[in-house]
Amino acid sequence: MAQENPRRYGIYFSDYGVKALKIDATDIAASIGTPFDNIYAQGLSPLMERSEGDARNRMTYASMHAVLRPKGRVIMVQSAYRTSKSGRKLYLSLREQLAIVDSMKLFQVVKVFNHMIIPPGFYSYYNRRILNWIDFNIGGVIPFRHIIILEKI
Ligand SMILES: C[S@@+](CC[C@H](N)C(=O)[O-])C[C@H]1O[C@@H](n2cnc3c(N)ncnc32)[C@H](O)[C@@H]1O
Repeated sequence: MAQENPRRYGIYFSDYGVKALKIDATDIAASIGTPFDNIYAQGLSPLMERSEGDARNRMTYASMHAVLRPKGRVIMVQSAYRTSKSGRKLYLSLREQLAIVDSMKLFQVVKVFNHMIIPPGFYSYYNRRILNWIDFNIGGVIPFRHIIILEKI
């Protein structure tokens, strides 16, 4: 799992009894031998950023594929904004990402959808239901994020 920045939100995986490890997403098997049912990757740079000949992107898809159980899924959360020139230069578009996935023949695309208009810091226990509704409905039209769900072939 590519995690949210805990310092920013004051939340730590250990608060929820989850063990956290720092590993290289381009070679997950080198750090962890056990296979996974699913992988959640939020804003993971090697998936989003351009690399020479897509090399780093491809290594990361292959690395996730290698450690997933059959039919295991990858849930990718990506920024939907590439408004600046430097942003477009650095980040792949959704279309470019899906073209890499398609060419590798390692995953089938299960679903792609838009999500989120509310900054996560606005969420609290009391407003979570209404903000969640807004993120899925209004965020579906003017999103901050794309969600991509892949399944291992
Ligand atoms: C845009 S930040 C997103 C941080 C966090 N996931 C979030 O959504 O707030 C990109 C993250 O990708 C991580 N990253 C870059 N290269 C990586 C690699 N090879 N393996 C694992 N993580 C990597 C960086 O350390 C950074 O935390």
